[in-house]
Amino acid sequence: MSDSTPWSLRCVETGERYAGDELRYRSESGGLLEVEHDLEGLTAEGARTLFRDRSGAMGGPDASGVWRYRELVLPVEHGEIVTMQEGNTPLYCSEALSAWTGVNWLALKHEGHNPTGSFKDRGMTAGVTAARRLGQTAVACASTGNTSASMAAYAASCGLKAFVFIPAGGIAMGKLAQAIAYGSEVVQIRGNFDDAMRLVQEVCSAHGVYLLNSINPYRIEGQKAIGIEMMHQLDWLPPDWIVVPGGNLGNSSAIFKGLRELRSIGVIDRLPRIAVIQAAGAAPLHQGFQEAFSGGARTVPNPETLASAIRIGSPVSWGKCVDAIQTTDGVVEAVTDDEIMAAKRRVDASGIGAEPASCASVAGLRKLVESGTIDARARVVCVLTGHVLKDTDAVLRGRENVVGDAAGCEPTLSAIGDRIERALEEGAS
Ligand code: F0G
Repeated sequence: MSDSTPWSLRCVETGERYAGDELRYRSESGGLLEVEHDLEGLTAEGARTLFRDRSGAMGGPDASGVWRYRELVLPVEHGEIVTMQEGNTPLYCSEALSAWTGVNWLALKHEGHNPTGSFKDRGMTAGVTAARRLGQTAVACASTGNTSASMAAYAASCGLKAFVFIPAGGIAMGKLAQAIAYGSEVVQIRGNFDDAMRLVQEVCSAHGVYLLNSINPYRIEGQKAIGIEMMHQLDWLPPDWIVVPGGNLGNSSAIFKGLRELRSIGVIDRLPRIAVIQAAGAAPLHQGFQEAFSGGARTVPNPETLASAIRIGSPVSWGKCVDAIQTTDGVVEAVTDDEIMAAKRRVDASGIGAEPASCASVAGLRKLVESGTIDARARVVCVLTGHVLKDTDAVLRGRENVVGDAAGCEPTLSAIGDRIERALEEGAS
């Protein structure tokens, strides 16, 4: 551990160590870094009591579903924390979705109920807190939309300058609107997310701007709290499976790291298996699943999917995610756009609602139950990563339950009557 911080940075490939207050994203040998905590003094009983006692807080860091777990996230001074009371997201049970996916027990951890409508707020509260600790005044990220919306908001909340790099025409309008509304500088590039990712790294090192993609180890620390909070909601009884959509693969890696640490202090007694679901047109890990375990990595040069949030061909957190899958005896599955949209219609119609990429988890679960990989008796949590309003185009494209149009073309009274009768009959059947 370093003298000045109670944590250090460790290369996940070589084990090289760096001080916690050193500004770097990779080790000297180029490997990804992870934050290593000193959890010596934390007992299972102590941690459970601490987290339970903080749960009812109405303000301050304890009211955040990330900072409530700060011993595992980043043990910093309260005054250093940049928070918007993120986390505290619901864990919904839905009989309809449980029946559709084929498992007896299904819960949906809805991360769309974060301040900017996606799971990214958990990583960003930690990333922006780290940026300020390190004396940074400007931050940047490449994004398929949600990271940019989140970073723009958190940067604005504490007066940091924000630059977001996005594929022009490649992200949902709601997300672009958020990045603009929160006042970030938006750089639209000709190319895809992977091109934007390469460019932002160059720009950050040339101009001394702090990079807040999930290559940044502090983003992962905040992101971990999805899994920690989920376990807390389940009274520390792990489900058999956690199913998450995979793009840049930061989220699956983060959830795994949090669970691994919870188990190391004995707060949970076993690790759930992790299933990562990619979109079939942007599925490098699914395609390279076998090679992945012998160290190989794959890229998809022109990733394509309706689920724009996970349209990624060259995921940054590849190695960390492979470790998560390997250690938990997990799996990677791919689902087509039709399967994603079929799941989305079900999730939306259950009243829960989520953006397309989120629904990849539900589509993937159904497929894994069908193939027998996930047992029908398993207890499963699917993570829904973003709010239904993030991608309204995806909803409006299939609008069968609308009469009349936005241009004010009003349906006749008899057309309205027919519609109502038909809907009532459908409801009764
Ligand atoms: N779901 C949504 C809604 C996302 O926005 C993302 C990633 C993922 C799933 C995949 O998570 O990358 O950690 O594997 N969005 C990033 C962004 C890439 O820029 O907003 P991952």
